[in-house]
Formats: sequence, structure tokens, C-alpha cells
Amino acid sequence: MSTNGSNPTRPAWSPASWRSFPIVQVPEYPDASVLKMTEDQLASFPPLVFAGEARKLKKQLAKVAAGEAFLLQGGDCAESFAEHSADHIRDFFRVFLQMSVVLTYAAASPIVKVGRVAGQFAKPRSSPMEKVGDVELPSYRGDIINGSDFTPAARIPDPRRQVSAYRQSAATLNLIRAFATGGYANLENAHRWMLAFVEGSPQSERYHELANRITEALAFMRAIGVSGDTHPEMQVTDFYTSHEALLLGYEQALTREDSTSPGNYYATSGHMLWIGDRTRQPDHAHVEFFRGIKNPIGLKCGPSLSADGLLQLIDVLNPANEPGRLTLIARFGADKVGEHLPGLIRAVEREGKNVVWSCDPMHGNTISLAGYKTRPFDRICSEVRSFFEVHASEGTYAGGIHLEMTGKDVTECTGGAKAITAEGLGSRYDTACDPRLNAEQAIEMAFLVADLIKKEKAARGVVVPEAAE
Ligand code: PEP
Ligand code: CO
Repeated sequence: MSTNGSNPTRPAWSPASWRSFPIVQVPEYPDASVLKMTEDQLASFPPLVFAGEARKLKKQLAKVAAGEAFLLQGGDCAESFAEHSADHIRDFFRVFLQMSVVLTYAAASPIVKVGRVAGQFAKPRSSPMEKVGDVELPSYRGDIINGSDFTPAARIPDPRRQVSAYRQSAATLNLIRAFATGGYANLENAHRWMLAFVEGSPQSERYHELANRITEALAFMRAIGVSGDTHPEMQVTDFYTSHEALLLGYEQALTREDSTSPGNYYATSGHMLWIGDRTRQPDHAHVEFFRGIKNPIGLKCGPSLSADGLLQLIDVLNPANEPGRLTLIARFGADKVGEHLPGLIRAVEREGKNVVWSCDPMHGNTISLAGYKTRPFDRICSEVRSFFEVHASEGTYAGGIHLEMTGKDVTECTGGAKAITAEGLGSRYDTACDPRLNAEQAIEMAFLVADLIKKEKAARGVVVPEAAE
């Protein structure tokens, strides 16, 4: 089949072809001319990422699909204009690196690092309206669309917000690139931070063994002369950006033909984009837009997705069965993953489709407690465990994890080693949208996933010297 996005049942693809398809979850802007002016302006701005980077990420994801690497994807549910500071970005990046050290060691293979960052602004909503007491207003849809204050004025969609989101994304990406390549990301730093976490954790004995092994491995490397000074690659890391591409006008404006491979279009708003669980209708606009861009893409897979529905989407989104192109992000809920995931895996295996399987243990485990939207850490962990178990029994590879997390000490998800209680939720509940793992919960999650990866490797008979316990 053709690899240029053509499809016998569809008209030719272009960055604008989605406009003639039905669409859901889009704002109604009061003034079409301001929207048009904004999109024209965005189309004249420089890209945020370039095609070669997206291709490199796709290659790394192809390694994940082949069971030779692991995907760590995470960040805010929604970035916000108010929470845009160097500290916020640094704390997030730092936790991400700590998680990555733990996972790299356990997996003994590369960790593909992808942030939900530098563009994660638009939110799909279950209900178009929000009611507080007797007052009903349009729902908040993310800072790129409207404001979160519960006032009629804030909730009016404003196209100019897209320019602010673009500029914030550029600034965030700039700092992340500096951290990733300027020495801050060096392995020894990440290791030291990780050890500080272990020392401070009430469950530190659970983490000591793995932490000590990493310490020994680094000491051994230093002893034989391998360090950041002698090996500059230990000072830098590859880090990629991703977001849900919900606001297609914005995405179209930033979609550009690659000058080095004419005819190929890349979304340049981020390296990897994904389709949300609410916008994956095969005959709708989002799927149409995604089928034509060449970036690596994700597809959220929730309980309403059937095996046939998934295969139909795979045919549209990855007709050439290109490895690394498509990451399936399972988000069923702890109590549903065992029922839904095996059927999807079997269909994919039967048809020989090449995909990355990743687990989002956040979006199927949201509950209301003490007036807050929260997620119990136990349930999040339980979905991750089940995800690995299902893959083990199907003989397939659990390739990644997709988390909502922050580097801050927030109180948004209950539980964790320093147990956050229902009563404690109010003390630092800062999220602009869904509840995130705080820094410590995120690192605890990395240790859990490390254990699961080691078990999975042992079961596959992959020799990882120190994994033999
Ligand atoms: C999200 O990832 O923030 C999200 C809205 O997820 P989903 O589409 O899976 O509900
Ligand atoms: Co979310």
C-alpha cells in the first residue's frame, strides 16, 4: 500500500483536508475572522521541532515495538499559562530523569523519553457545560482555548490564546533542550537525585537494592575510566515532546512540508502527537488529519474501542505497517484492563500489525473524593501490573508507560508512600485539569515498573546479569 497517505476510500490528504470531515470537541469561536487571522499568523511562525527529530523518535519507537527499548511518556494533564516558570520545567525534567535512570538500569536497554510538555494545552471534555450551584457555563477546555476561571468572560474561546500557547511552548522547549544537552542531564546528577529520593522515602528499604546496584555500576564505570568527562554522551540525553493534537486549526498552521523529503508533511508543534479517546472516530476529522502527518503518533484506546474498530484505525493510520509510527496507549482502568486488553492484543497479533503498546494508568482510574477529582495510587499501580500480566500471558511486549505527573509536591492523587489522604487533597491541589502523580509518587511508579520489566525480561530469558535474584 502507498506510504504517502493516500487511501482508496478517501479524497487526497492535505494539512487542511480534515476540514471537510465531521468533528467533535472543538470550540465555537465567536469571531471567525480573528480565528483566521491567528491561524495565518501561526502558519508564518517558525516550526517548534523539525522533521529529522520526529524521524529519529520514530526510529527509537521502532526499537520499542521490537522489544529493544522502553517508552516513558509523561507530564502535566494540561500545561497552564499561570504555571510557566523555570522551576516548574526544571522540577519536571529532573523527576523524569530520575525515573529514567531507574528504568534504564532495570531494562538494560534505552528508555525513550517523551514529555507531555511544550504543547499540551487543549483538553477534550466529557461535558460541554459545567455547573456550579445554579450557574452553568461552558467547560474549561485548556488554556489554549479559554480560561479556567468560572466566569462567563473567561469561558469564551479566544483564538489569541493559540499564539500565547505557541510562545510558551517555544520557551519551554528551549529550556528543556538546554537542560538535555547542556550538562544538567548528566547521568551522575540523575543518579544522585534518585538516591536522595530513596533516602527520604518511608519505604526506602524497598528501593535500596536497585539503587545500590546502580551506584555500584556507576562506580565500576568510573573505575575503568568511563565518566561524563571521558564520554560526553553521558552528559546529554534525547528528550522529545508530545501532546494531544485536539485543536486541529492550530496543528494545521504548524504542519509543514519537509524540505529534505518533499511531499512529506510533519506536524511541527511537537515530536509525537496523539489522538484522544474521545476523538478517534475513524470517519472524523482528527483521524483524517493524523493519517497524513509523518510524525510518530499515539492512539488512546479506552473501553469503548472494539478489536475491529482498532484494526480499522490501524489501517487508516499506519497503512504501511511502519514500525514506530503507531503507539497504542491503553487506558482502561484497573478493573477493566484484564477484560479489554487481551482482545485488542490478539487482533493486532493476528493481523501482524506493528505497534508499540503503552499503558496510561491514569485516565481509567479517576474518582470523586471529598469534592476533588482524584486517582488512588493503588489503582494506578494495579492497572500497570495488570497491563504487564496481560502482555506476559499473550506473549507480547509491554513497551511503555504514559503518566500524568509533575515535579512538584502536589496532593492530587491519594496514596503513595507518604500517603495522601482524602482530607489532605486540598492542601496542594494545583492541577489545571486532571490529578497528577507528584514527584515522589512518580519515582515510586518508576521503581514498580522497573520490577515489572525485570520480571518480564527474566520470563523472556533475556540475560540481565543483575536481574537474576
Ligand atoms: C489525556 O491524556 O489527558 C486525556 C484526555 O486522555 P484520554 O483521551 O485517554 O481520555
Ligand atoms: Co488528563
